[in-house]
Amino acid sequence: MDSTLACSFFQFFTLVVTFSFTLPTSSATEFSVKEATVQDLQLAFQTKQLTSRQLVEFYLNQINIQNPVLKGVLEVNPDALAEADKADQERREKTPSSLSRLHGIPILVKDNIATKDKLNTTAGSFALLGSVVPRDAGVVTKLREAGAIILGKATLSEWSHFRTFGAPNGWSARGGLGKNPYTLGEPCGSSSGSAISVAANLVTLSLGTETDGSILCPSNMNSVVGIKPTVGLTSRAGVVPVSPRQDTVGPICRTVSDAAYVLETIAAIDTFNNATIEASKYIPKGGYAQFLKKNGLRGKRLGVVRHYYNFGNDTFMHETFKLHLNTLRQRGAVLVDNLKIDNIDEIISGQSEQIALKFEFKLSVNAYLKDLVASPVKSLADVIAFNKKHPKLEKMEYGQDVMVQAEKTNGIGKAEKQALLNMTRWSENGFEKLMKINKLDAVVTPFWSFSHILAIGGYPGVSVPAGYEKGVPFGICFGGLKGSEPKLIEIAYSFEQATLIRKSPPLRRKLEVTSFK
Ligand SMILES: *[C@@H]1O[C@H](CO)[C@@H](O)[C@H](O)[C@H]1NC(C)=O
Ligand SMILES: *[C@@H]1O[C@H](CO)[C@@H](O)[C@H](O)[C@H]1NC(C)=O
Ligand SMILES: *[C@@H]1O[C@H](CO)[C@@H](O)[C@H](O)[C@H]1NC(C)=O
Ligand SMILES: *[C@@H]1O[C@H](CO)[C@@H](O)[C@H](O)[C@H]1NC(C)=O
Repeated sequence: MDSTLACSFFQFFTLVVTFSFTLPTSSATEFSVKEATVQDLQLAFQTKQLTSRQLVEFYLNQINIQNPVLKGVLEVNPDALAEADKADQERREKTPSSLSRLHGIPILVKDNIATKDKLNTTAGSFALLGSVVPRDAGVVTKLREAGAIILGKATLSEWSHFRTFGAPNGWSARGGLGKNPYTLGEPCGSSSGSAISVAANLVTLSLGTETDGSILCPSNMNSVVGIKPTVGLTSRAGVVPVSPRQDTVGPICRTVSDAAYVLETIAAIDTFNNATIEASKYIPKGGYAQFLKKNGLRGKRLGVVRHYYNFGNDTFMHETFKLHLNTLRQRGAVLVDNLKIDNIDEIISGQSEQIALKFEFKLSVNAYLKDLVASPVKSLADVIAFNKKHPKLEKMEYGQDVMVQAEKTNGIGKAEKQALLNMTRWSENGFEKLMKINKLDAVVTPFWSFSHILAIGGYPGVSVPAGYEKGVPFGICFGGLKGSEPKLIEIAYSFEQATLIRKSPPLRRKLEVTSFK
């Protein structure tokens, strides 16, 4: 955490006491920023109840108060207020219809997403501190074009959990251990800070990345909405990678509509990541907002895959999901229950993903490092050596087994080729076959339990808040075939509007942690 934020807690103590989440405004009504959606904020801008500067100041205060406990934010953009002033000026000079939905709205990006500004891009590691990126990541370029304000970088599991599985979820050497704002426990990862920060109202919107579960799991655990887009739909250029075959950048927000607005802003062709050219056929004309339909569940065929996916073995979960399945049915969906993926045993027991990710990580991290303008480390081997040389700084008691194993790989050999073929075959004969034979629009599963199936095939998924068990949030996930984001958004939005389950977490500040211990 930026030390200026960490030590300004006492300075803000009086604010903690008096702060009530509402901003005094010149008008008679008071506009509440807490839980405000993009649409609420745009209306408040237009009716002059709020400026982007006030909005950024609100979030900076919240970060000062809550982040010493939650550790969702790694760095704050020193230019955020200047960007807000620019947005406020543009709003005075231009007609509202000429401005994008995200104009003047603050967003946090995971620390593995490059920004060419005063912020560092480090994947949470000291090894990348001081590295100079060649340009903004493709998705950041799109956000800036839309007039969004880059508020800062979100914490994450270091190297998206690809240094070691020995470190706790949500931990990085630079960011410390992120906390779930509902429980002060496990936030899940690797896009932990992105989910923590929108959940706790430290920012309006955020971006995360997923290789296998890293958007869907933290969204589930922190009671927010996550969209894991089809691989290639959003650019990975300028993102510290794990695997070009599985990596995808997507929104983590408080509502399905906010997530859809972010997705339509970042889904685009980027010549720095040619996979976006092929995937651009999936981008609907007119964007994703048109699919925010309250009756979006009507006529949708939803598959319920129970086998192996612990669809509620304990009574509470069983009853809760029975209720949710009933809601889906009442809203007009056709549930096709008790489905089984043909080759599920082979998929679950196979080692193909681990084999593939190891060699892909080495190749793609080396390519990312080579593209940097300057960097203390130029290769994965350098990163491993850096960690060995700085055992205290990088908490080497957690180890670096995943990196060491990846470094031992040597491109695509026979085993690697077979692993890739296996995953293609598993996806075609498994999930795709299930979807096509049953003419499904999506599958519905509790938690993020289906994320592995979606990961190995590059398929999209959307996670929506589904409840709280003894105060611990959990979500429901809808997954579909490549390019099915329009359907998934219709389904997710319709479910969200039918249930409106999300509740904001309690305000977290340092004193309560001291008394907590
Ligand atoms: C980036 O890292 C450097 C070196 O630690 C630090 O001085 C600087 O404040 C960081 N930038 C931001 C925006 O926090
Ligand atoms: C993308 O493809 C174009 C031609 O289709 C090629 O010129 C360019 O080098 C490619 N870019 C990357 C980053 O591979
Ligand atoms: C509970 O889990 C066990 C083992 O995973 C399984 O055999 C059993 O059918 C499950 N029960 C229910 C009600 O889902
Ligand atoms: C790939 O599939 C083959 C054939 O089913 C199987 O024998 C092999 O163990 C699989 N390899 C991996 C790494 O999962």
